[in-house]
Amino acid sequence: MWPRVWQMAGREEDIPEVGDHFVYEIGATSLIIVRSGAAEIRALYNSCLHRGTALRECGGNVSQFRCPFHAFTWDLHGEIKRIPSEWDFQDIRGRVAKLPEARLDTWGGFIFVNLDEEAESLESYLESVPKDFERWPLDQRFTASHVAKELDCNWKVAQEAFIEVFHVIGIHPQSLPMFGDANAQYDVWPERRHTSRMINLSAVASPHLRGYSEQRILDASAEFGLCDRGATVPAGKRARDVVVEGMRERFRRDLGVDTSGLCDTEVLDVIQYNVFPNLMLFGGLGSPLVYRVRPQGDDPGRCLFEVWLLLPFPKDAPRPPAAPLRILTAEDRWSSVEELSYFGAILDQDFDMMPQVQRGLRASKTRQVLLSTYQESRIRHMRQTLDEYVRR
Ligand code: FES
Ligand SMILES: [Fe+2]
Repeated sequence: MWPRVWQMAGREEDIPEVGDHFVYEIGATSLIIVRSGAAEIRALYNSCLHRGTALRECGGNVSQFRCPFHAFTWDLHGEIKRIPSEWDFQDIRGRVAKLPEARLDTWGGFIFVNLDEEAESLESYLESVPKDFERWPLDQRFTASHVAKELDCNWKVAQEAFIEVFHVIGIHPQSLPMFGDANAQYDVWPERRHTSRMINLSAVASPHLRGYSEQRILDASAEFGLCDRGATVPAGKRARDVVVEGMRERFRRDLGVDTSGLCDTEVLDVIQYNVFPNLMLFGGLGSPLVYRVRPQGDDPGRCLFEVWLLLPFPKDAPRPPAAPLRILTAEDRWSSVEELSYFGAILDQDFDMMPQVQRGLRASKTRQVLLSTYQESRIRHMRQTLDEYVRR
């Protein structure tokens, strides 16, 4: 499947200057994503045309790509510049003239690549996402934090855990007083193969709980940092009203961002889109995150999970610089990442569970899993699309 799909490789803001590049790896494939001109980004195969050496081991800024082994050199566009001892090769110039490229396109400030020359365009692949995100332009955000951690499970085990909130009652019970888990809306559309959505309300009590007063819901929301501690719910108002009002004020005060054009759910709630296979985008501002999960090398029991915190910045202000990638070790907890606030502790709970899911799946006698009709419909949808790609 991986050689056939559009994959989010990184953010345009990661490579602002000509010559800036990073290495994007999926399985054994390695691409150099380089800004080759002010308004031009390329995805060059990271493999020397002489004897195959990886041209780059990591990102940085260069003016050309010089192979570390015998110094064959290509420019930023992938055109050959230097062939040492060219006299010693026969008819080599044409064969090394150009580093092969993968298809590349951008949307929402993201760089996408596709290894399949026959694949549909990115625009058609993304289905309704570009249109839906017109209200929440992700190119108008900057990377306030980018953190990655390895996880001992298959990438699909992780992916599937993050596209449903059915598991909140099991893993994250502390959120129940302020999270409408079993009332979440899940959307899959029969004509859309690559995308699905869920919308989860915050600052409401879970339907698993009974008789929570609005004040208790507000107190629980304060525990999660959604509002100030000690806030009270005025007569005739809901906890949500208080929280939304405070969040609008925070966006204005802390980030200089006007939220008056957004409805309450866009300011507060979790609106999450999945872009097949492994990208999770959040609409609105309630949860300004992006998740991506990838296999680690060829090991089906390991993956790399990444989180971006994408914050808005004022319309006419210069773009703040993108935070560099921080890689957590196995011992590092997500809760140590200050910028993620209460999400960190939630991610730790997910991470603690995933290897156990993987071990149990391997031990399964039935070799099957069961999916609920509604709350796990996005997983079924993703699996159907995956099966289609694999069949092809
Ligand atoms: S392998 Fe790259 S120059 Fe020889
Ligand atoms: Fe979770």
